[in-house]
Amino acid sequence: MPKVLISDSMSNVAQKIFEKNNISVDVKTGLSEEEIIKIIPDYDGMVVRSATKVTKNIMEAAKNLKVIGRAGAGVDNIDVPTAKEKNMIVMNTPGGNANATAEHAFALIMSVLRKIPFANETTHKGQWEKKNIKGTELSKKTLGIVGFGNVGVRLSNLVKGFDMKILVNSKSLESRKSEYPHVENASFDDLVTKCDILSFHCKAAADGKPLLTKDHLKKMKPTSYIINAARGNIVDENDLNEALNEGLIAGAAVDVFSKEPAKENVLFNNPKAVLTPHVAASTTEASIVVAEMVANQISDFLLNGKKINTI
Ligand code: MLT
Repeated sequence: MPKVLISDSMSNVAQKIFEKNNISVDVKTGLSEEEIIKIIPDYDGMVVRSATKVTKNIMEAAKNLKVIGRAGAGVDNIDVPTAKEKNMIVMNTPGGNANATAEHAFALIMSVLRKIPFANETTHKGQWEKKNIKGTELSKKTLGIVGFGNVGVRLSNLVKGFDMKILVNSKSLESRKSEYPHVENASFDDLVTKCDILSFHCKAAADGKPLLTKDHLKKMKPTSYIINAARGNIVDENDLNEALNEGLIAGAAVDVFSKEPAKENVLFNNPKAVLTPHVAASTTEASIVVAEMVANQISDFLLNGKKINTI
């Protein structure tokens, strides 16, 4: 009987699917690398979210491991090149949390444009800051979406009806343009200079270098906003903080950080930044869908050799 380790907390739907498929499953969360190294030789499959870092050391010790499944989209916590060298399959669950992430990006847009966190905090304190809270509307504005995968597409669909122009920067859009008549393909520089809201929904660069730095921020409209619900290293945090302080842009809303969990960050306490702790995908619905997807995919691979959503 194949054996699977679930090493991050996730919906118990995953466990139930493995059990139904007669796959032995252990749920052991919060383990250190050393603790995982000790037990990993027992397992054929491993399921993670983002907390477990599946390192080279773990893979070296994993004598029976054939498949690593990520309940989510990003696989930056898995050493994919080493997995490939060792013929281990890495799978993710693309699209499983796309709606949740796009809705959170939209919530961030509304929060920062309408200053909701400040309004909430001060109203709770009885401060009645009405004169100091003037929002910005979406109507007639330009939204720039960097990356047009499941999340970028969903966000573009969510804002239909808000009377916005949508510019997209995506290499793959040209060939599938007819499916998305509501957006226009544009260069990254066009997005930087023309957008009122610039929202990132792409992968981080392979070399980890930020896509958006001070040079770009200097070219943005002073009334514009940055939204990042993708990965922390896509936008240079120091440059973003300076841009907010120098009035190069009006505000930012950020769900992801260069170092997570973010216990310290240059953006902390910047009044122009709305921050959330990497929760864009954290909804009841999405956590069930990604757990179902990853457990079904791993079961299908271990029982039938079927490879779905491999990296
Ligand atoms: C993802 O990569 O799916 C999201 O960032 C959410 C998560 O970390 O699970």
